[in-house]
Amino acid sequence: MAQFLKQGDELALAMEKKTAIHEELPVPVEKTVPQEELPIQIYASLEPVYEGGSQLEEAQLRFDTLKSKFLQVFGHQPDLYARSPGRVNLIGEHIDYEGYSVLPMAIRQDTIVAIRKNKSGEAQKLLRIANVNDKYTICTYPADPNQEIDLKNHKWGHYFICAYKGYYEYVKAKGLNVEPPAGLDILVDGIVPTGSGLSSSAAFVCSSAIAIMAAFNVNFPKKELAQLTCECERHIGTQSGGMDQAISIMAKTGFAELIDFNPVRATDVQLPAGGTFVIAHCLAESQKAVTAATNYNNRVVECRLAAILLGIKLGMKPTQAVSEVKTLSDVEGLCVAYAGNHGSSDPVLAVKDLLHEKPYTAEDIENISGEKLSSVFANSPTSLEVLKAAKHFKLHQRAAHVYSEAKRVYAFKDTVSSNLNEGDKLKKVGELMNDSHHSCSVLYECSCPELEELVEVCRDNGALGARLTGAGWGGCVVALVKENIVPQFILNLKENFYQARIIKGVISKNDLGLYVFASKPSSGAAIIKFQCSFGSHLKEA
Ligand code: GLA
Repeated sequence: MAQFLKQGDELALAMEKKTAIHEELPVPVEKTVPQEELPIQIYASLEPVYEGGSQLEEAQLRFDTLKSKFLQVFGHQPDLYARSPGRVNLIGEHIDYEGYSVLPMAIRQDTIVAIRKNKSGEAQKLLRIANVNDKYTICTYPADPNQEIDLKNHKWGHYFICAYKGYYEYVKAKGLNVEPPAGLDILVDGIVPTGSGLSSSAAFVCSSAIAIMAAFNVNFPKKELAQLTCECERHIGTQSGGMDQAISIMAKTGFAELIDFNPVRATDVQLPAGGTFVIAHCLAESQKAVTAATNYNNRVVECRLAAILLGIKLGMKPTQAVSEVKTLSDVEGLCVAYAGNHGSSDPVLAVKDLLHEKPYTAEDIENISGEKLSSVFANSPTSLEVLKAAKHFKLHQRAAHVYSEAKRVYAFKDTVSSNLNEGDKLKKVGELMNDSHHSCSVLYECSCPELEELVEVCRDNGALGARLTGAGWGGCVVALVKENIVPQFILNLKENFYQARIIKGVISKNDLGLYVFASKPSSGAAIIKFQCSFGSHLKEA
């Protein structure tokens, strides 16, 4: 059982030593073991996680509050803490669930989960989930990994239950011999703005899964945790890809990451010097889980249908295409071969030639595939919800977006590692971001009027590139801005976008810093066991 804490601890401690002491170790552990194979690092202090300065001070305050509130609510101290950050996706939108690589970075805003295991009394039968923010009232669930989540009655605590179920599904599937379920007391402090497209839900689910794992004294390799937590979120009803969880778990200070899937892998990407990413909220909330049937899951279904039709048009038997083709990446080879026969290497050519622009009706698709859509998606209740809500399916547009966006991710990565000078790199990367936004807006239709306006304001005020980030339909824009104009750029956004909303009372002037800020690539998930809480944990065990 290589994943268990013993070995995990050795690696984690070796890595921690390197960070905490000096750059003295002859062969750093990270160089020999790919980071996705490593377990989550365990720290005894906050410095290596929160770097320093005001960020560390803010973290210290939050941990103090968590500790005293935990005592106040549950009458004892937590055993340990887990934290996981939100993310901003720089490029590669709505392609992770189609099997394509994406390029996000972690932001400093995170969710911290304080946890304690209860092995006696009534508390051993319960999961009691409280929040430092009084807006979220305490939720209580049974300590039963097989419980159903009541999706019709959305509660904030459901995200923790996703992680709890996911943890047990994982250990069961792996045949791991772990402790039986016990009661858990949990206190949550999340500062990733919700509905912002910055993955507050992934930060919550990942920190919860890591806290549960650590409370039960186990630690898994990051790539397995990324997979596990991605599956966790599906319990809430969205058919998300794995980007948000993978970056939250595998991020490193100072780097964006190229995330590949199947298997999950992260490659460090050094961003060009002289540029800063500014994140700005358009103030329309992006409610991914609530609008899944018409927005997010709808696009997942459309991509699958586009892939099936392309497979059939490119020679697959309809029955084979329906049973074997799951994503557009499954038929990319066929599309590229088609393009090759027509003097190109671009799979979009196959899309242009073989799928019409006019939206397809369910009947159009059933006539080609020879199967009822309700039977194609019979095993996916959330896809059946999509079918109920959809009038038609824009297969040409969705496939053209996915194939072209997948290419832009590599163009971005190649640009930053090229020999161009830093200024030219920034310019090119900015153009790719603009192209990505255009494709999201026009082909994938996941923008909204507020995002469009904000992207425009960013470009008018000197951004080299600006695009929606995350699922879209609200939430944030990410803009690439030359470092030396960042303060003025933010002032201009305040004046040209936010001021009118402050006057209308949409937001308060004092909260502006929550809605527009510059962001550097930050650190990934971590477990924090302070000496005293670690001691009390050992006593109990
Ligand atoms: C959400 C999902 C991700 C990804 C993005 C869009 O954040 O959770 O998996 O699909 O939308 O790129």
